[in-house]
Amino acid sequence: MKQYDNVVIFNHPLIQHKIAILRNEKTSMKEFRELVEEITTLMTYECLKEDVPTTEVQVTTPLETCTQKVVCDNAIAIVPILRAGLGMVNGIHVLFPSARVGHIGMYRDEETLQPQSYYCKLPDGIEDKLVLVVDPMLATGGSACDALQLLKERGCKNLKFMAIIGAPEGISRVAEAHPDVKIYVSTQDRCLNENGYILPGLGDAGDRLFGTK
Ligand code: PRP
Ligand code: URA
Repeated sequence: MKQYDNVVIFNHPLIQHKIAILRNEKTSMKEFRELVEEITTLMTYECLKEDVPTTEVQVTTPLETCTQKVVCDNAIAIVPILRAGLGMVNGIHVLFPSARVGHIGMYRDEETLQPQSYYCKLPDGIEDKLVLVVDPMLATGGSACDALQLLKERGCKNLKFMAIIGAPEGISRVAEAHPDVKIYVSTQDRCLNENGYILPGLGDAGDRLFGTK
C-alpha cells in the first residue's frame, strides 16, 4: 500500500497482543468490550502526544510552587460512529472524563456497502474542539469518509480518526479524501472479502460488542 503522511499504523506489541484475543471467535462479549476499551486507551495515549491543547497552571507541592502543563478543559470531543464506535468511548473517557460526546449514526447497506446516515447529534461548540472520531472497523472507508465530511460541514477543523482494524482500501480512501485528518489504525489487515468484511478481521464489531448475533 502507498504510504501516507497522515496515516499512523501502530503495530505496537501490547496492542497486537490484545488484538489477537479480540480476533478470536471464542472471546466473550464482555472480554471483547473490555479489550476494545483498553486498545482505545493505548491508542489515545499515543494519538494525543503532540496536538492536545494544553495550558499552564500553578501547583504548590509540599516543597514549592511550580508551573505545570494541564490539558485544557473542554478541549476534546469524542464522536463515535454508531454502533461499534460506542465501544471505544470509555477508552478515551478514562483519560479525559470531561470530553463531550457527539453521535453519528451510520450503517452500511448490505448490498451496495454504501453508508446510510440515520442520526447526528453533536455537542455545542464542537467546531472549536479537537474531535476524535472513532470506529473500530475501517473497511471500505465509506462510513469514515462520510462522518468526517459531515463534521467538516458542521465547522470542525481539528479532526483525528481512530480505528482498531483497517483494510488497505479503506485506509487509502480516507487518507486521500481527508488529507488534513490524521488517521490512527492499530493494525492493517490483508483485504476485504466479497461482502466488504475485513480479512482476517474480527467479524462484525457491532454484533460482537452488543451480542446482536
Ligand atoms: C461497521 C463499522 C463501520 C463500518 C465500516 O458498521 O462499525 O461503521 O461498518 O465499514 P466501511 O468502512 O465499509 O464503511 P455497520 O455498518 O456494520 O453498522 P453497525 O455498527 O450499526 O452494525
Ligand atoms: N464492519 C465490521 O464490523 N466488520 C468488518 O469486517 C467490516 C465492517
